[in-house]
Amino acid sequence: MPDEAVRFGVSIPPKLLARFDQVIAEQGYANRSEAIRDLIRDRLVETEWHAEETETVATVTLVYSHHTRELGEKLTELQHQAHEAVVSALHVHMDAHNCLEVLVVRGKGKELKRIADRLISTKGVKHGKLVMTTVGDRLV
Ligand code: NI
Repeated sequence: MPDEAVRFGVSIPPKLLARFDQVIAEQGYANRSEAIRDLIRDRLVETEWHAEETETVATVTLVYSHHTRELGEKLTELQHQAHEAVVSALHVHMDAHNCLEVLVVRGKGKELKRIADRLISTKGVKHGKLVMTTVGDRLV
């Protein structure tokens, strides 16, 4: 395939597109194409890391209400099951109801993804995010 840019059409609700345009303008993107290319690159890098057999380091951020029945215990139990990967856990009581937990995990990318998926998908977790990082040897 020639190395020329390919144009493609995307169907998107107008409100979502308007919000996207607003955000990328704030971030300083000159146009949608560059913003979308960055999104695609980001996803590709993420996918690559998730599939990796090599050791990596990541953080898992979790937000949940401590009023949700047995949720705190459930999340702690999952972390204990993964004790070899969980290096550190930070708990912040954000307000009267909500807790923020940030875990530092270390291990194979695939394994870290599996652990994060289990934590984030636990019923009652309001928001969760896995951020894989690297010492950057393979980043150009
Ligand atoms: Ni708390």
